[in-house]
Amino acid sequence: MSSLKERVIAQFISRFGERPSHIVRAPGRVNLIGEHTDYNDGFVLPMAIDRAIWIALRPRSDRRVLLHSLDLEPAADFSLDDVQHTAGDWTEYVKGMAWALQGAGLVLQGWEGVSAGDIPVGAGLSSSAALELAVARAFAAVTGFAWEPAQMARLAQLAENKWVGVNCGIMDQMISAAGKAGHALLIDCRTLETSLAPLPPETAVVIMDTATRRGLVDSAYNERRAQCEAAARFFQVPALRDVDLATFNAHANELDELTRRRARHVISENQRTIEAMAAMLQQDAVTLGKLINASHASLRDDFEVSSKELNQIVECAQRRETVCLGARMTGAGFGGCAIALVRDVSAKAFAAAVTACYQAASGLQPHIYICQAADGASEVPREQKGD
Ligand code: GLA
Repeated sequence: MSSLKERVIAQFISRFGERPSHIVRAPGRVNLIGEHTDYNDGFVLPMAIDRAIWIALRPRSDRRVLLHSLDLEPAADFSLDDVQHTAGDWTEYVKGMAWALQGAGLVLQGWEGVSAGDIPVGAGLSSSAALELAVARAFAAVTGFAWEPAQMARLAQLAENKWVGVNCGIMDQMISAAGKAGHALLIDCRTLETSLAPLPPETAVVIMDTATRRGLVDSAYNERRAQCEAAARFFQVPALRDVDLATFNAHANELDELTRRRARHVISENQRTIEAMAAMLQQDAVTLGKLINASHASLRDDFEVSSKELNQIVECAQRRETVCLGARMTGAGFGGCAIALVRDVSAKAFAAAVTACYQAASGLQPHIYICQAADGASEVPREQKGD
């Protein structure tokens, strides 16, 4: 099968009659630990994955943007002088990105191209952030403005919050913009400072897609955000990031039961994320795995964003103790994917065992892939073969 890069080039040539002048890509992500901490100004530890959205393009001399997707209808087709909401489909991400870049004062040039991707939609692997960053990279390629990952991530988040209307944090956009091959990234979501976290040697990260898609995620997500804000008000701090475990424990019984559990998740998860970073710097995969397991329990019991199927697949993984160092749901929750950190020599056998176990437990066919940590959004040389 040809690579996505080859596919977008071939489709570009058949549509526009010449080779594209630029090829850009932006990846999806998994989060190793630090879940529902980003909108609390906290820490996250995601990695960009080797699944991405690719665009082959050439500049236009006018201010029109025309993007044909090989996966989705209709084409995005609009003028930079008149960016309007339309049907609420995938093209809103393209227009929203143009709106955000122009709102930041960048004078954009039009372009036309073809896109394709291999990030499953709605699985919690951030296909929408990847699309936003790929579009931003396309504008940077034809317009020539400097690529500053944190600025681009903030603008992509703005597009998602204000144009598309999804109240997400900064994690997905930041890792798609700034990821580094072979590494996860510790991101301080208050300052957007990043530190490289090398993946432990002889381990692999396995994505376990439950084949369930999140329902009601937006309303539940907004409800969790409101509960976290209420807890921050109680502690009289700007965000839960500013409360440590000792302070929390000293006052926990003054909070109502639900707010207490929500806050306990966020505050303990921040602590686990810092500890996970330290473990990664020491190449201590065993400690990292334990923290990953503890994160899942906290998301399941205190934050209540897991689901029956996510719990089933995580239990299937965790039961393989000699291979699996740790497993947890990843992303917003309520469906989609979990991850496992496993010993790499046994990763394939692990995938087969989890597939059988999850099928028996849920009656569903999971999709399991061993993934690699990839670079963030980039322009790719046109000549290079393959991804
Ligand atoms: C979604 C959001 C992120 C983050 C995660 C939960 O992926 O887009 O900003 O809040 O949920 O950690």
